[in-house]
Amino acid sequence: MKPKLPLLAALATALLAAGVAAATPFANATPVSSFAALPNGAPDIPVADVKAQLQSLQTIANNNGGNRYTGRTGYRASVDHVKSQMTALGYTVSEQSFSTSSGTSYNVLAELPGTDTSKVIMLGGHLDSVSSGPGINDNGSGSASLLAVAKAFKAARPTPGVTVRFGWWGAEELGLVGSRAYVSSLSSAEKTRIKAYLNFDMTGSPNPGYFVYNDDSRGAALRTLLVNAFTAIGVQTEYVNVNGRSDHASFYNATIPTGGTFSGAEGTKTSSQASKWGGTAGAAFDPCYHRSCDTTSNINDTSLDRHADVISYALWDLTGPSTTPTTTPPTTTPPGCAPGTNANNVTIPDNTTVYSDVAIAGCSGNGSATSKVAVDIKHTWRGDLVISLVAPDGSTYLLEDIANNDSADNVLKTYTVSLTSEPRNGTWRLKVQDIASQDTGYVDTWTLAA
Ligand code: PHE
Ligand code: ZN
Ligand code: ZN
Ligand code: CA
Repeated sequence: MKPKLPLLAALATALLAAGVAAATPFANATPVSSFAALPNGAPDIPVADVKAQLQSLQTIANNNGGNRYTGRTGYRASVDHVKSQMTALGYTVSEQSFSTSSGTSYNVLAELPGTDTSKVIMLGGHLDSVSSGPGINDNGSGSASLLAVAKAFKAARPTPGVTVRFGWWGAEELGLVGSRAYVSSLSSAEKTRIKAYLNFDMTGSPNPGYFVYNDDSRGAALRTLLVNAFTAIGVQTEYVNVNGRSDHASFYNATIPTGGTFSGAEGTKTSSQASKWGGTAGAAFDPCYHRSCDTTSNINDTSLDRHADVISYALWDLTGPSTTPTTTPPTTTPPGCAPGTNANNVTIPDNTTVYSDVAIAGCSGNGSATSKVAVDIKHTWRGDLVISLVAPDGSTYLLEDIANNDSADNVLKTYTVSLTSEPRNGTWRLKVQDIASQDTGYVDTWTLAA
């Protein structure tokens, strides 16, 4: 494991809090004009916002025969509620219908475009309940948390670095029907665009655990991110093999990396779990699982709050702001085709891709077979980095994918690359991907001699 570095974000945090826009109206919730910040700068989700949404779902069940089951009016009302909340928050909202053994059902999708729309980070959870009750922990909790996170995120980062998409799935309780219908409706290009899917199904269990899914080998980095998020708010975790028991399975079956958190269902809390997390050893995490008593009384507020904060923390890390190295214009090479340099610092947040641009003009012909790219990156764990050169036409040349166990600081290195098929003139980009949590840095300067 990496040594954990303290995240010295106090200044950034204060600036962030001051810069948060006024809250978008959110029915039944206390208006929040600014949010406290989590250790990585993400908005701290007010548990009151999550509880306000749970109350709305409880009221919907009360007014519709006591449940929000597929094919019943309580499910349709849940869909309409989520759609109206997300529309009010300024997301682009759509609905997808599909058929089930209990009639037509619906997924709700809501999107916020990023600066880089070629990548999508998805978060989701199922919106349907079983027929026997209102489904407030299963899965009002995940559904409501996603609404509260969507509100805070939009206020704090209205233009994320990459596109953010939320999904509320129908008919999970019938066998992941809605999420499967969604994934199978995507073209392979659309599937490729989705770089991660995080699932939240049961996060407010009354005798809670703090579990991180570990049933997807492609999701290793997401799993680490979620553990780090809990650690950052002082919560110990355990991995759990959820064996595909929720909607993330529809995504990992399509080779999309997945992860998720879970506070426990019908399983029994052990005594070591009770000493770690509190609560009652020998009792179920959720004694009302799939029962009529899964109401707003069946929620542990601390668990609800912590899981919601972890969602916010993870989303923040996965969608870093676009970094525009624009404080001074990129250096333009003089005639005679001198090398181009961009010495403006570009911050490299965790798990984020950033670019630094160099414009080359006045050079004739194509690059050389031994073009040089001199890179000076400051970073506290260079094994986190994948470094590429992107030509003006978008062709990408991998310079280095540094082995993750290379824990040394900084990259100060000149790469030789053949650019004989690329005209020299145009805007070249140094692309730096940080692919692991905890360590960060910045592009100090780089030079291209094409
Ligand atoms: N998906 C299960 C249900 O809705 C509960 C569950 C969630 C089980 C997450 C394991 C992990 O009943
Ligand atoms: Zn269930
Ligand atoms: Zn569930
Ligand atoms: Ca990192």
